Amino acid sequence: MKKALITGVTGQDGSYLSEFLLEKGYDVHGIIRRSSVDFRERIAHLEGHPHFHLHFGDLGDSMSLVKVIGAIQPDEIYNLAAQSHVQVSFDSPEFTADVDATGVLRVLEAVRANHLEKTCRIYQASTSELYGKVEEVPQNENTPFHPYSPYAVAKLYGFWIVKEYREAYNMFCCSGILFNHESERRGETFVTRKITLAAARIAQGHQDCLYLGNLDSLRDWGYAKDYVECMWLILQNDKPEDFVIATGVQHSVREFAYYAFKYAGIELKFEGEGLNEKGICVAVSGNAPESLIGKTLVAVSKDFYRPTDVVNLWGDPTKAKAKLGWNPSKTSFEELVKLMVESDMAKVASEGAAAKVRTNLAEYLEKGIVK
Ligand code: NAP
Ligand code: GDD
Repeated sequence: MKKALITGVTGQDGSYLSEFLLEKGYDVHGIIRRSSVDFRERIAHLEGHPHFHLHFGDLGDSMSLVKVIGAIQPDEIYNLAAQSHVQVSFDSPEFTADVDATGVLRVLEAVRANHLEKTCRIYQASTSELYGKVEEVPQNENTPFHPYSPYAVAKLYGFWIVKEYREAYNMFCCSGILFNHESERRGETFVTRKITLAAARIAQGHQDCLYLGNLDSLRDWGYAKDYVECMWLILQNDKPEDFVIATGVQHSVREFAYYAFKYAGIELKFEGEGLNEKGICVAVSGNAPESLIGKTLVAVSKDFYRPTDVVNLWGDPTKAKAKLGWNPSKTSFEELVKLMVESDMAKVASEGAAAKVRTNLAEYLEKGIVK
């Protein structure tokens, strides 16, 4: 039985990848932080599975990585752990660099310290943020990088150190350059989930208005469940290579909001420009209250603008299609928005007032109390 070690197992991707690898018959080991608040909701359903095991470790602590990797002797490591929020990286650039840059080096060195460099394959969670202030569209494996946030600069080190260890020590280590991927399990402060949760709460009378930043920003959004398959495929390839993983289709934040509200039963019309742009309710359907008609449900706040913003991400998945046989069109943009809204509609309906308490952080963000 193959053994896989996942860092970042409590995150969106870690939880889907755990399910995927368990289905493939792997023994799955995940690293969780001792210092983390107890937020294992995404993997709670897996705890108790005979082939799912958790270990304490931290990307900031090399000794913990050396010990865990030595004890497990994994065949594959998926390094998904990161401070993954771009806005947060402006507030905590040093912490982000330590986890997202030096943390990658610690994983690679822990493999070497355990003499596993010939047997253990390593996947590094790289990102389309490397293209940053983009130099061409769409972006492929040959597009020059131009990182445009402390997060992206840290991830650039991760990308290059993986390449360096591949060439210097002949290790099977690769980066997946993944474009944005979302799901029902997406963190609530990323724009898609913030929108779907707000649309559900507004449709059910728990919130008045959603405040967003740059509505013109363009992303290539895919479904996280489809993307974890690619992480595995990259490690099953004959030779270690880096791959762009994307859908090849681009949409704006405004479009995402339009469809999310639509699936919550609210038709929005956007009027105005920049900070004065508003999404006004022009019609309702289903159970959404008629009293919403004429109200501003989406507004722009400068609190959610970034010092430097990446505004034109659009991936070209040709290489992954050709070499890995991966299908980038499994879940369309509209299907993705719909499944996220349906999940949040059900969550808000079942949790009612509690959903409001649990989303305090999103409320703080909306009000600019924390950014
Ligand atoms: P996520 O939901 O934010 O999960 C991040 C994970 O990293 C959590 O399990 C977190 O643990 C863990 N972590 C953070 N700091 C750590 C540390 N010092 N030591 C050990 N674990 C630590 O992220 P995601 O969306 O699943 O993304 C997975 C990876 O792909 C990340 O590296 C991200 O940067 C990258 N990526 C994501 C996307 C995307 O669109 N989702 C696109 C490209 C690349 P706690 O639960 O303890 O906080
Ligand atoms: N979070 C957030 N909140 N973003 C907003 C908002 C808002 O209220 N309003 C507009 N945006 C814009 C951001 O300025 C950005 O241009 C875009 O929406 C997407 O923001 P996020 O959802 O926070 O994701 P991201 O693209 O910055 O980063 C995610 O994708 C990267 C891959 O490209 C993260 O998952 C990263 O970890 C990942 O590497």
